[in-house]
This record gives sequence, C-alpha cells and structure tokens, in this order.
Amino acid sequence: MESSGQVLLALGLLLGLYTLFYRTFIKGKECRNKTSLRGKTVLLTGGNSGIGKATALDLARRGARVIVASRNRKLGESAVSEIRKESGNNEVIFMSLDLGSLRSVRAFAEAFLQSELKLDILINNAAVICKGKSEDGFDVTFQVNHLGHFLLTHLLLDRIQQCSPSRVVIVSSDVHRRGTIDFQKVHKPVEGYLNAFQSYCNSKLANVLHVRELAKRLEGTGVTFYAVHPGAVHTNALRYSPAWVQYPYLVFTWLFFRDANNGAQTSIYCATEPGLESLSGSYFDNCRRADTGPLGRDDALATKLWEFSERLVGLSP
Ligand SMILES: NC(=O)c1ccc[n+]([C@@H]2O[C@H](COP(=O)([O-])OP(=O)(O)OC[C@H]3O[C@@H](n4cnc5c(N)ncnc54)[C@H](OP(=O)(O)O)[C@@H]3O)[C@@H](O)[C@H]2O)c1
Repeated sequence: MESSGQVLLALGLLLGLYTLFYRTFIKGKECRNKTSLRGKTVLLTGGNSGIGKATALDLARRGARVIVASRNRKLGESAVSEIRKESGNNEVIFMSLDLGSLRSVRAFAEAFLQSELKLDILINNAAVICKGKSEDGFDVTFQVNHLGHFLLTHLLLDRIQQCSPSRVVIVSSDVHRRGTIDFQKVHKPVEGYLNAFQSYCNSKLANVLHVRELAKRLEGTGVTFYAVHPGAVHTNALRYSPAWVQYPYLVFTWLFFRDANNGAQTSIYCATEPGLESLSGSYFDNCRRADTGPLGRDDALATKLWEFSERLVGLSP
C-alpha cells in the first residue's frame, strides 16, 4: 500500500516537472490579442490537420468566415464539422484544393472568386515533405509548398487588394536557413528521403523570399505580408517519411515539441495583431519579428525566384 502511494507520488512529481519544462522551454509565446474577425473572410490552405486546423479553429472563434482548403474531402469535411462544433461558428466551409496540381489551383481560384465576395486574410499553411513528381512534372515538395501557393496568391491578389487593409501569411520554417535556390534544379523531382528534406528546406526558403518580394511589389496597396516559423510542433508532418524516420521522430516530438495549438500562435498573431503593417515582408518566430538566414534577405534572389516561378506556373512565357 505504502509503495503504491510512493509510485503515485513519483508519477505526480514527474508530471509536474514535465509540465513546468513544457511551459518554460517548449510552449512558446501566446497570441494574446482579442481582435474580432466578425465580417472578415479567411482562406487557409491545409486546414484539415496540425497547425492549420488549430489556426482555423482560433480564427473561427473570433467570428471569421473560414474557408478550409485541402485536397482530401473526407478529412477536410470532418475537420470543418469539428471546428464548427468547437467554435460555435457555422461559417466554416471546406473547399477542395490540391496544391500539387496547377490545374486544381486554377479551378479552386475560379470557384473561390465566384462564391466568395471577400478575402481579408489568406494563410498559405499547407506543406509536405515528400519525394517524387507532381502531375505538372515538378518536384512535388517544391510545387505544393511554393509553386502552388505562388499561383494561388497571384490568382487571388486582386480580391485581397479590394478588401484592404488585408493580410497574407505564409507559413515557412526555420529550416529555410538550410535551403538554397539553384535555378537549374530546384524544381526538378528528387529521389530519396534526404533529398526530399533538402527540397523541403529549399521550398521554405522560397516561402520567405516570396513574402519579401510580395511586400516590395505591393507596398502602399494596404495588403501586407508575413512569413512565419511556427516552432517545432508535434504534428503528422512526417507521415510520408520512411518508418526509420517517422517512429523515433513521433516519440521524440510527442515529448519535446509544442502542440498544434501552441504551434499556431505565430500564424494567428500575424493574421490578427493590430499595428504590424510597417513590418510587411518580415519573418516572425514566437510572435515577434526575427531575422531570416542570409539568403532570406537576398532581394536579387527574391526577384529572380519570382520571375522563375511565374514562368513555371505559366504566368509568363
Ligand atoms: N510541424 C513542425 O514542426 C513545423 C515546423 C516548421 C514549419 N512547419 C510548417 O507548418 C505548416 C503546417 O504543417 P503541419 O506541421 O501542421 O503539418 P501537417 O499536419 O502535415 O499539415 C499539412 C497540411 O497540408 C495539407 N496538404 C499537403 N499536401 C497538400 C496538397 N497537395 N494540397 C493541399 N493541401 C495539402 C495536408 O493535407 P493532407 O492531410 O491531405 O495531407 C495538411 O492539411 C507547414 O507549412 C510546415 O512546413 C511545421
């Protein structure tokens, strides 16, 4: 009896210590503003799981009309019904979008512009780490994470401008520091997990450069742009990785990474915090502006990537 009491006491102590460790070193800063989004329309890619779903839930609680765009109807609709239930907001809607297909991005944009009169906040959140070729013949990771979002943002930009002051948030990652943009091969399909991870880093650098170039080109229009690092977050992000990566990672991340709600805080902050307009084009980590890696500040590279992306998605010859 006495020893089971001691075990319970030790478990309680361990749990208490872990909670303290989580709050101090893992959780990160919270977005504390109470900005209401009543009357605003938000479009969020990849909102059926992880950080995207947690972001959609918060924005729905603030009263926004939230369009959750993702490729799997069953998962998307089930996420939407959970978000509606938890937020008490029925204006949460699923729309089908596969960022790995330029045809799907165009069809989505057309349907969105027909059915939605407003777009106040666009959050480009979806991403994969995956080897192989997209239906357009590009590296699938680079296409989903950068090219698909590049085309989507372009096609919706007039509507976003009509709703200014409006915002675009692009979820990047701190691993953009490991990325490079080699115009000979950055878009070409790769094989093997390590190469797919390098493609992911390249695409996350492309996200940072995309935000920088958008902020420059649209300065003075009332639309502002933010790149986000959500922190190290416990999600299903490595589900297309081999088992030797996935299982050890899952155990490690469950203990040492923040949960999806805590990981959503910087996206929510950039979408809702008043007074960020003068920081358009910046990179945010832990709900504050942060420095990017050196390539993330290279304006010539940002312009060249813009022109290169325009050609790849068929916006220029
Ligand atoms: N987790 C981290 O530690 C971490 C760290 C830094 C940055 N990030 C960034 O945070 C963002 C969210 O990632 P997460 O961790 O929440 O991962 P996640 O749970 O895997 O969420 C990714 C979302 O993207 C969607 N998606 C994937 N391919 C798509 C496609 N072709 N078309 C449309 N949607 C697609 C997924 O839908 P399906 O369910 O259909 O696949 C899912 O909803 C990503 O931009 C990621 O790079 C995450």
